[in-house]
Amino acid sequence: MRLLEGACTVDRHDGPGTLAHEELVARVEGKQALICLLTDAVDRDVIGAGADLKVIANIAVGYNNIDLAAARERGIAVTNTPDVLTEASADFTWALILGITRRLSEGERLLRRGAWKGWALDFMLGADLRGKQLGIVGFGRIGRAVAARAGAFGMHVVHNSRRDGMPLDRLLSTSDVVSLHCPLTSDTFHLIDQAALARMKRSAYLINTSRGPVVDETALAWALRERMISGAALDVYENEPAVHADLLKLDNVLLTPHLASATVETRTAMADLAVRNTLAVLEGRPPLTPVS
Ligand code: GLV
Repeated sequence: MRLLEGACTVDRHDGPGTLAHEELVARVEGKQALICLLTDAVDRDVIGAGADLKVIANIAVGYNNIDLAAARERGIAVTNTPDVLTEASADFTWALILGITRRLSEGERLLRRGAWKGWALDFMLGADLRGKQLGIVGFGRIGRAVAARAGAFGMHVVHNSRRDGMPLDRLLSTSDVVSLHCPLTSDTFHLIDQAALARMKRSAYLINTSRGPVVDETALAWALRERMISGAALDVYENEPAVHADLLKLDNVLLTPHLASATVETRTAMADLAVRNTLAVLEGRPPLTPVS
């Protein structure tokens, strides 16, 4: 805010919650720049109302909330916040992998409700990671950073991406942990559907820190209920902040509220990068991290 206020007049929405769509449409009018969050749907209506817009700066690496085609038609630069959140997101992915395979949240829930009867040799057994296969779907910055940490846990990594790697079907049928790191596009919508889940090993775990709609939640709830897979850990959902009611009832799923990049350092760096992108465009310089 200090950087922005030193350079331009700022109309700021302080919350709580996301600006209603019609209010965003009304308030974008007459503005040269829009700094937005992944919860803001910057669609054709918003872009159409922003006749003076030069830049849309998303404080997120994902940008499926922005209609890129509409922005391109109008010559508006769109920027995101790659790199600065890579390490925090990869760390969090490992928190989910460890959390679900070692039943952390399930164990804590049990303890808090007073149901712990004491240590037992066969109580709440999870799964080892050492010697197992980690399948990474989407091998960009975050997918690679997750892979880089796998050696510490003795896991062998395979990946699938648009360019190279193992075919998805084989990755799904051979991996012990499958972690999603692809962007949400029309190609990846419901990439993990009932057929994909049925391909996975019954002992496998699914981790999603990408975007909710990459996974068909109804199919996932079925797979978890029927023990088609061992467990899942999700940070993102199809209709945030709503979570599929069936998932909430299941114990073999760890659910976090879209926190992968949520550290003080990382969120500060994301906001700072969005501001620097905005000021660059307003001052006639190329943006630092344009969405290509
Ligand atoms: C978070 O989900 C992001 O895309 O930055």
